[in-house]
Amino acid sequence: MEKNTAEAPLVLGIESTCDETGVALVRGNTLLADRTATSMDEYARYGGIIPEIASRAHLESFLPTLDAALDEAGVALSDIDAVAVAAGPGLVGSLTVGICAGKTLASTLGLPIYGVNHVLGHLAVDGLVEGPLPERFIGLVVSGGHSNLLHVRNLATDVEELGGTLDDAAGEAFDKVGRLLGLPYPGGPHVDRLAREGQRDAIVFPRGLSAGKDKHRYRYDFSFSGLKTAVARYVASLRAEGKEPDAANICAGFSEAVNDSLTAKAVQAALDHDCDTIVVGGGFSANSRLRELLAERAAAAGVQVRIPPLRFCTDNGAQIAAMGALLVAAGVEPSPLDFSPDSGMPLTTMVAR
Ligand code: KG4
Ligand code: ZN
Repeated sequence: MEKNTAEAPLVLGIESTCDETGVALVRGNTLLADRTATSMDEYARYGGIIPEIASRAHLESFLPTLDAALDEAGVALSDIDAVAVAAGPGLVGSLTVGICAGKTLASTLGLPIYGVNHVLGHLAVDGLVEGPLPERFIGLVVSGGHSNLLHVRNLATDVEELGGTLDDAAGEAFDKVGRLLGLPYPGGPHVDRLAREGQRDAIVFPRGLSAGKDKHRYRYDFSFSGLKTAVARYVASLRAEGKEPDAANICAGFSEAVNDSLTAKAVQAALDHDCDTIVVGGGFSANSRLRELLAERAAAAGVQVRIPPLRFCTDNGAQIAAMGALLVAAGVEPSPLDFSPDSGMPLTTMVAR
């Protein structure tokens, strides 16, 4: 059957940066299918992701996930017009599985392939939910590996990195505090849940880079490792006295410190750059206090906030297909077939070369 060329191209998105194997199909701004398999359950007993296990799980999950996505969208492989696959940042072994799959499909079907930046995809996915992204916006990407502020002039072609964390990412800091308190891995959602039961001002933890000279020098940067150490010291000192710390109050105070920094600097970036919208993405954007505090502070500053629903916050194929669709629409040159995974792909690079 001949393809309907009047329609926007059908883009297949493949995500395999960490533990999720995601496959999605997008046409223009429309998400036709989004399927995810995860190997996260295997890591609880290790307290962290084991790259070797994750790579094998991608290998096992890829074809069933692809089939499920094609079924859900009601399309065949021959209907696809372009392939987008996460090229980084992420775990090299995991990335390699998705990239091999993407390259095999693209070369056998004779299609262009885009090795896309998965972190930018965390912002792109919002365009599938709430309609096209604004012309210009501030991007706040918060995940297990990233906490960055971006000035996005065009997500497919023009992204400026304003700043980021100098040490731990927000999700990583939450996971570490979770471990300290004996919570299951990944600790982020558990710390978030406990924080809601505690008092935010019972324990005031330090806010990194938010006072004195640092506030100006590191205007859009974050630092969470000092905060994490402050929590560790607080817990250790109580335990030394034979007291069990109040986990809910610790989580509430800690969460407040992280989210105070993230939201204050995001709103500042929007005001400084005359942007009327902040788009948030990444696993940590599931955090309930981030959502609440950002909504409050942005509204007070007259700035809109767009955060995708929870299921699009953690890694998924839709974010990669969305990024691919934006690149195709902008007429960006596809990647060469010999591109490699880039575990440290810069946030100003949209496509692997
Ligand atoms: O974007 P993502 O799925 O993977 C990376 O690319 O890193 O983010 C995962 C991170 C983990 O650190 C996890 O603990 C954190 O997001 N996370 C949360 C919440 N949900 C997930 N952190 C705090 N509060 C949450 N509700
Ligand atoms: Zn991610």
